[in-house]
Amino acid sequence: MAQLQIVTPPHPVLRQKARPVTDFGPELQSLIDDMVETMHAAQGVGLAANQVAVPAQVIVVEMPVPQSDEPDAGSEPAPPHSGERFTWVNPRLSWHSRSTVEGVEGCLSVPGVAGEVDRFEEIRVEAQDRHGSKVRMRFEGWLARVFQHEIDHLNGVLYIDRIDDPEKIWQVKPGEEEQAETEAVGYPAGS
Ligand code: NI
Repeated sequence: MAQLQIVTPPHPVLRQKARPVTDFGPELQSLIDDMVETMHAAQGVGLAANQVAVPAQVIVVEMPVPQSDEPDAGSEPAPPHSGERFTWVNPRLSWHSRSTVEGVEGCLSVPGVAGEVDRFEEIRVEAQDRHGSKVRMRFEGWLARVFQHEIDHLNGVLYIDRIDDPEKIWQVKPGEEEQAETEAVGYPAGS
């Protein structure tokens, strides 16, 4: 496995529509493994292949596990999909709720800022797993947000494109873009 370089604007690949994946061979497997390693190293919660300069329809998402150093942490059930890793190929929204919800996002490809974005509250995603089997899942809340953000990347869209009010984008310390997001939903910094 290897860490890959995460590209930032104005790299054109971030604006490219990613191509569908048809070959589930070793090249795809290494790409996915490298993306997972890169996401972990950057302390991110999701990564799309465009972000490592590969315009292919591949995303990796991993829900952080809430830390349990709070005295009463044991009483709260872990959020759905905690610690679960999704390595999905050719994902698309097959359905979404009418309702939207505003929440904080950051992006490893957009250093130094975080912002408030409107997203569908609930979605269904159809995709293939890393071996080509069809998968279909329903997501709500923060995980629905993360999937919408990553699928946007595959269409050449960045979350900042969806913010029309400049007051809804603010500066954060470099490297803390996604911390702003995870803190906003109650996860510990750096997860
Ligand atoms: Ni992003």
